[in-house]
Amino acid sequence: MSQRHALDAAVPPHLGSPPPRTRRWVPIRKLGHRHRARVLEHLLALDDDDRLLRFGHLASDERIRHYAEQLDFDRDELFGIFDRRLRLLAMAHLAFSRSEVQGEGITEFGVSVLARKRGRGLGSRLFEHAVMHARNRGMSTMVIHLARDNAAMLGIVRSAGAAVEFEGADVLAQLPLPANTLGSQIAELLGHQAAEFDYRLKLQVLRLDAWSSGKT
Ligand SMILES: CC(C)(COP(=O)(O)OP(=O)(O)OC[C@H]1O[C@@H](n2cnc3c(N)ncnc32)[C@H](O)[C@@H]1OP(=O)(O)O)[C@@H](O)C(=O)NCCC(=O)NCCS
Repeated sequence: MSQRHALDAAVPPHLGSPPPRTRRWVPIRKLGHRHRARVLEHLLALDDDDRLLRFGHLASDERIRHYAEQLDFDRDELFGIFDRRLRLLAMAHLAFSRSEVQGEGITEFGVSVLARKRGRGLGSRLFEHAVMHARNRGMSTMVIHLARDNAAMLGIVRSAGAAVEFEGADVLAQLPLPANTLGSQIAELLGHQAAEFDYRLKLQVLRLDAWSSGKT
């Protein structure tokens, strides 16, 4: 009997199907001007393949520096997931171009997760967060440009129900967004406050660490 079948046999018949996967809460924090250096550090850590997937071209360190310098934290929405040392493990950029700001209702999504933290649902969480923010901001469509061979990103957009169009090696995914509701506004507000609290706690611990190691 295979190991899988042995495990199945051990499960009582009334408990036949496995329990649904539990989803741990992940603090997703809004990024601002003061996070520019952390954003740069995160993006510079992406290897050539990842840079190609994230930016659609093999962005040099210099291009990435330029990208980080010109990020408009007031117009666009950037958010990220930090570890205990406040390193940016994953980040997403929801871009609102001038014409979109004028009311076309389209926003563009880009995301990256550090290679060692992939496959744990962080990319999906950032995508869901972006959807919630975009709809709360009154957007009607989210677009995502991705490579045809980007299986993880393709999985994320497809499971969200986006329409995908293949154009050679590239894919254009378009996700229609539901209208915002009081529930979606409250959910975002609560998530924001909890993530802010989590961030401040990590900052305090880091400061205490620095202070106590300075004393010893
Ligand atoms: C795309 C990316 C953000 C995904 O992040 P992630 O945290 O690994 O994604 P998740 O763990 O949430 O997984 C998303 C889905 O893809 C699947 N997946 C993850 N890695 C995969 C892989 N290498 N091959 C196939 N599917 C994969 C997961 O199983 C999951 O599907 P499920 O929800 O049905 O289980 C990450 O791979 C990345 O940063 N890539 C480089 C930059 C990039 O490609 N950006 C996207 C273009 S903007």
